[in-house]
Amino acid sequence: MESPVTILITGGAGFIGSQYVRMIAEDHPDWSIRVLDWLTYSGTMTNLASLGGRLSFIRGDVADPAVVDDVTYRQ
Ligand SMILES: NC(=O)c1ccc[n+]([C@@H]2O[C@H](COP(=O)([O-])OP(=O)(O)OC[C@H]3O[C@@H](n4cnc5c(N)ncnc54)[C@H](O)[C@@H]3O)[C@@H](O)[C@H]2O)c1
Repeated sequence: MESPVTILITGGAGFIGSQYVRMIAEDHPDWSIRVLDWLTYSGTMTNLASLGGRLSFIRGDVADPAVVDDVTYRQ
């Protein structure tokens, strides 16, 4: 069955963002998690490694309207 909720988390590969991603993953095992992060000096996929296939990751700039539109409305 399709997940009832998809949550978009920006900056989710950072220190605080990745803690939040983990919290959501534990508290809402039925939600789909989408992370948008530009992977600047402070972001790394290592922070999300433990989540494996639990989330979808998009590398992009949250200040780019086209990117935000895409990740917000994509199915
Ligand atoms: N052990 C510790 O106590 C520890 C460790 C790391 C960081 N910190 C501190 O915690 C505070 C906050 O850390 P944080 O991880 O939340 O912030 P951060 O700035 O470290 O990370 C922000 C995240 O947003 C991403 N990002 C930045 N610009 C973006 C853009 N334009 N589009 C998309 N994504 C973008 C980055 O790649 C990163 O993953 C900082 O002051 C930091 O120094 C503490």
